[in-house]
Amino acid sequence: TFVVTENCIKCKYTDCVEVCPVDCFHEGPNFLVIDPDECIDCTLCEPECPAEAIYPEDDLPDGQEQFLELNAELSRSWPVLTTRKEAPADAEEWDGKPDKLQYLER
Ligand code: SF4
Ligand code: F3S
Repeated sequence: TFVVTENCIKCKYTDCVEVCPVDCFHEGPNFLVIDPDECIDCTLCEPECPAEAIYPEDDLPDGQEQFLELNAELSRSWPVLTTRKEAPADAEEWDGKPDKLQYLER
């Protein structure tokens, strides 16, 4: 499965959702996650993310391993998103900021 990692938090560009053939992106207030039970590993979403926040589960950057379980957990309660929407106005300011997990809204 592919995994949305920390840099999506507060960036949430949503370009990723348009290309997913199986609609496995779920939306929270300031983060998106991939449902690992639905992802077919097509790889299409990975290059679409302007924040480079999407990785295959076998190639997660150091410190991002916990996001595999977090994607599974949050996808169970958050609704599916299939259409791109406007990113937060301050998305660019947050792109690349470290330690954003503390700002995750559920
Ligand atoms: Fe969807 Fe493909 Fe990305 Fe999996 S790898 S989340 S199936 S676009
Ligand atoms: Fe997040 Fe990147 Fe999608 S910032 S919403 S994973 S395009």
